[in-house]
Amino acid sequence: MKKTQTQADHSNPVISIRGLKKSFQDYAVLRGIDLDLYQGENLVVLGRSGTGKSVLIKIISGLLKPDAGEITVLGHNMEQITEKELQDLRVRIGFSFQNSALYDSMTVRKNLEFPLVRNRKGITRAEINTAVETVLDAVGLSQTINQMPSELSGGQRKRIGIARTLILNPEVMLYDEPTAGLDPITCIEINDLINEVQQRYNTSSIIITHDLTCAKQTGDRIAMLLDGQFQRTGTFDEVFDTDDSRVKPFFDYNFIH
Ligand SMILES: Nc1ncnc2c1ncn2[C@@H]1O[C@H](COP(=O)(O)OP(=O)(O)OP(=O)(O)O)[C@@H](O)[C@H]1O
Ligand SMILES: [Mg+2]
Repeated sequence: MKKTQTQADHSNPVISIRGLKKSFQDYAVLRGIDLDLYQGENLVVLGRSGTGKSVLIKIISGLLKPDAGEITVLGHNMEQITEKELQDLRVRIGFSFQNSALYDSMTVRKNLEFPLVRNRKGITRAEINTAVETVLDAVGLSQTINQMPSELSGGQRKRIGIARTLILNPEVMLYDEPTAGLDPITCIEINDLINEVQQRYNTSSIIITHDLTCAKQTGDRIAMLLDGQFQRTGTFDEVFDTDDSRVKPFFDYNFIH
């Protein structure tokens, strides 16, 4: 399904990044990243394997420290943030990991309850049950509530992983390769779910992918990471309207083969 264009509020960046640099040993992965994520938008970050996409969202969520640069997330300067503030901030950011990261020894219900019990002190059993049922309904998997993760398909695991982050009502969603390893039909379903989440939960999202169908279907804006910087930013058509030899093969590979 094609995305309905979302009107993002451009006066109000929820994430703002200037001059971000990150190296590992001698290898400079991020070499001066500037980026704004606006309230209510889906921003897709495209880039080849190893270009630093996962590193970028780990830095945004405070899992990794940058070497240089200014990063503001939901009003917090990440350089000055205290450990306590970081803990509170993480609850406001949903992180959908590249591998879904479900607890294999717990049922779907227990997986979903886990973040609530840990982060919402004093929550009642009835409130937990309602929250679990609501997010399962939102991702269309109410029937799996008593199943184990090993009994789910790859696409279902992705959905449950997304539900587990939604249960805390995050303001920002970070999706790391949400469609990796899924068949094309399931990819489209996950893309639709990302758009539904944007509408229903009013989230601002960064979606990392190298799947151009996902980029086109979910992105209000696309930012292309090349050689450690965002070289091209705009709508899907704007980003790919170029003869740049680093960009064209990316497009051709995804759409011709
Ligand atoms: N903790 C770390 N220690 C050392 N090097 C790291 C670390 N994390 C990432 N790197 C390196 O940084 C580079 C970028 O990694 P990253 O995981 O961000 O790539 P990516 O763009 O997400 O790739 P993919 O599309 O394959 O997931 C890689 O060369 C990787 O080896
Ligand atoms: Mg990655």
